[in-house]
Amino acid sequence: MKTALILTTTLLMSASAFANPELAEKKGCLACHAVDAKRIGPNFKEIAAKYATDKKAVAVLAAKVRKGGGGAWGSIPMPANPQVTEAESKQLVEWILATK
Ligand code: HEC
Repeated sequence: MKTALILTTTLLMSASAFANPELAEKKGCLACHAVDAKRIGPNFKEIAAKYATDKKAVAVLAAKVRKGGGGAWGSIPMPANPQVTEAESKQLVEWILATK
C-alpha cells in the first residue's frame, strides 16, 4: 500500500513537471524563450529571479502574456498570445516563476 502511494506520488510529480514545458512548447512560447538561455525574450530563470518577491507577479504576467507588451526587459516587445486561455497563461507563469 505504501509503495503504491509513493509510486503514485512520483508519477504525479513527474507528470506535472512535464505538463508545463509541453504546454509552453505547444503554445509557441519556446520559439522566443528558453528556460536558461537567452533567445528573443528573457529566459525563464531570469524572469523567476526578477519577480521572486513580487506577490502580484502571477496576475500581472499572466495578463501580459495574453495581451503582449514591452518595456520590462529591453526594446523588443512580446506580441500578444491569444492562443492561451487565462487559465493556461496563469499555469505557464506559475511554472516559469518556479524555474529559478
Ligand atoms: C515572438 C516572441 C515571443 C513569444 C512567442 C513569447 N514571448 Fe514572452 N517575451 C518576449 C519578449 C521579447 C519579452 C520581453 C518583453 C519586455 O521587455 O517587456 C517577453 C517577456 C515575457 C515575460 C516577462 C514579462 C515581464 O513583464 O517581465 C513572460 C512571463 C513571458 N514572456 C512569457 C511568455 C509565454 C508564457 C509565452 C507563450 C504563451 C511567451 N512568452 C511567448 C517574446 C516572446
